[in-house]
Amino acid sequence: MKAVGLTQYLPIDDPAALLDLNLAQPGPPTGSDLLVRVQAVSVNPVDTKQRAPRAQQEDPPRILGYDAAGIVEAVGPDVTAFAPGDEVYYAGDVTRPGCNAQWQWVDERLVGRKPATLDFADAAALPLTVLTAWELLFQRMPLQFDDRRHAGQVMLIIGGAGGVGSIAIQLARHAGFTVVATASRPASADWCRQMGAAHVIDHRQPLPPQLQALGIEQVQVALNLADTDHYWEVLGELLAPQGHVGLVVEPRGALRIGDPYKAKCIGIHWEFMFARAKFRTDDRIEQHRILSRVASLVDAGELRSTRSAQLGAINAANLRQAHRQLESGSVIGKLVLAGWE
Ligand SMILES: NC(=O)c1ccc[n+]([C@@H]2O[C@H](COP(=O)([O-])OP(=O)(O)OC[C@H]3O[C@@H](n4cnc5c(N)ncnc54)[C@H](OP(=O)(O)O)[C@@H]3O)[C@@H](O)[C@H]2O)c1
Repeated sequence: MKAVGLTQYLPIDDPAALLDLNLAQPGPPTGSDLLVRVQAVSVNPVDTKQRAPRAQQEDPPRILGYDAAGIVEAVGPDVTAFAPGDEVYYAGDVTRPGCNAQWQWVDERLVGRKPATLDFADAAALPLTVLTAWELLFQRMPLQFDDRRHAGQVMLIIGGAGGVGSIAIQLARHAGFTVVATASRPASADWCRQMGAAHVIDHRQPLPPQLQALGIEQVQVALNLADTDHYWEVLGELLAPQGHVGLVVEPRGALRIGDPYKAKCIGIHWEFMFARAKFRTDDRIEQHRILSRVASLVDAGELRSTRSAQLGAINAANLRQAHRQLESGSVIGKLVLAGWE
């Protein structure tokens, strides 16, 4: 089968950073695995972080990729939710070979049925980021997707135009929040508004005066989707007493979790989208439930795909281009690749 992988961890401008490969097709799935024929993939910063240059060799080659849409080809003996021919989408498990391959094994508990109204490319844009945002907002934080109890509350989303921000804006707005997103360029600011942000402020400028200019003195919830250390102090100032901060990016240094966080009783919530798969938690079927719920919401017109660009077929040259763009830190929405030419 065709696949894209690495044998060395190299800077992305090195043509050998990602290689076109011809590998043996995975055999029949076992246990609760599906064998999926991958149709489209998206890229995420986790790919570039996993690929970061270091002195290490991989033999056999390592396959990255943790956002896919495809068709179930075969099911393991313990599978209950899927059958061959089903169209699915999933992020999968960072500890197993990824989706940048024509066929992949993935545990059915991490897989949802693909939204029927989206093609494979639009569907592949969603899983990793929607799992991140949904788990953070509605499973780590005590927020509710379905009722309007948050109406009138403000959620500040730092890094609103990125992959996670694009879907977090939609979910927060659906939950009733007035969303203030941050973006530093006209194109990323426009995108945040398209995703449903009520206001957009610039994360390259001081945040409090921009919020004050909107008549906002404090926010009930803040998601820091960009730089945990950099925004820690200002978020401590901006968060309302008994507010919540959501974090997804490993800090570079130590964070001071005392005042004002302690004095205001601010809830500090970590999300790591691969935690359930990595630690084989008993509740990993939650990812199946979230993705299937999101598919229904997409099909009902309540949520939309965050795909912003399609970079062509799934091959090493196009994936190197996608990684290069991600490493620039300026991607808007999600970059997708589809088909195997
Ligand atoms: N823990 C988890 O489970 C999990 C899951 C997914 C992602 N993540 C992490 O979350 C981070 C964001 O992921 P992503 O997929 O959303 O990334 P992304 O799509 O690459 O994000 C790009 C966006 O980030 C914004 N940005 C860049 N520098 C910024 C800064 N200093 N402050 C605020 N915004 C900034 C840019 O906006 P402008 O161009 O407008 O500046 C750009 O639109 C990554 O570090 C990723 O590894 C963690």
